[in-house]
Amino acid sequence: MKTFFGNTPGRAIAAGASAYEPTVAAAGQPAVRQAAARIAVYDSLTSSPRVEDVRGDSPRALIEALSSRTYQLSHEAGGAIPYTVIREVVENFIHAYFSEVVVSVLDGGATIRFADQGPGITDKERAFQPGFTTASDEMKHVIKGVGSGLPVAKECLGFSGGSIVVEDNLDRGTVVTLRMAAPAAPATEPADAGDRPAVFELPSLTTRQKQVLSLTMELGSVGPSAVSRELGVGLSTSYRDLAALEDSGLMVSDESGKRALTSYGVQCLDSIFKG
Ligand SMILES: Nc1ncnc2c1ncn2[C@@H]1O[C@H](COP(=O)(O)OP(=O)(O)OP(=O)(O)O)[C@@H](O)[C@H]1O
Ligand SMILES: [Mg+2]
Repeated sequence: MKTFFGNTPGRAIAAGASAYEPTVAAAGQPAVRQAAARIAVYDSLTSSPRVEDVRGDSPRALIEALSSRTYQLSHEAGGAIPYTVIREVVENFIHAYFSEVVVSVLDGGATIRFADQGPGITDKERAFQPGFTTASDEMKHVIKGVGSGLPVAKECLGFSGGSIVVEDNLDRGTVVTLRMAAPAAPATEPADAGDRPAVFELPSLTTRQKQVLSLTMELGSVGPSAVSRELGVGLSTSYRDLAALEDSGLMVSDESGKRALTSYGVQCLDSIFKG
């Protein structure tokens, strides 16, 4: 049986194999393929990129790990592409069965390119409209599967002067390129302020609320029970903190009541990290 994280047409994985089966390497034999993603960070185009592999023992774990690491590396390089946008594009690797995933961080983090060798997207225009999806039942255990990812990513980036472009990969598969320049200096700054990131007006937050933001970044989305468990505080305290963070525009609830960071929340957290 084909699974969404297993075999894909034309792939070298035995029919029925899951890309998450443990690696088995008989003496002198190549290891059984594992689902993993590769990130390449280009410090400049005149030298080879720094390359690292990201793995997860389930589709969800790989999505979490790859989204967080891509966010971290692109922001360390100076980029400002929001976590929520990165996450939507990474989640979409599920449609490509995580086949030959390569994420490239370019232009000081202002460009991130996500490539796979899955089935590709035939109707790229409609893929950007809410409600168009090919997500299967099985995929919906891991992603929302309502056709919202690409439209939301486009809107979010467009709002910040960025862009998202979807192209075919060379032989087969999809390449999604996100671009967003670091935030411009505020208008009141002198013209020679250069490309320093905008000064951020941080809302006043308690240490625990900052921890909640940080935890949400790590987990993708949280509910009161996860906050209570991870931070060792009562449920009602967790609920109050989440509600306060949502009121400040730092978080937003999804249909299941879980809260994720807004791009404002991600930027605030970034400012907190940078001190
Ligand atoms: N990397 C990809 N490979 C193949 N198809 C893709 C890829 N990315 C997106 N698609 C196609 O584009 C469609 C729309 O993607 P979009 O992210 O908007 O919605 P979704 O992933 O189906 O659902 P949601 O994002 O709400 O969980 C997908 O259903 C899929 O058919
Ligand atoms: Mg999606």
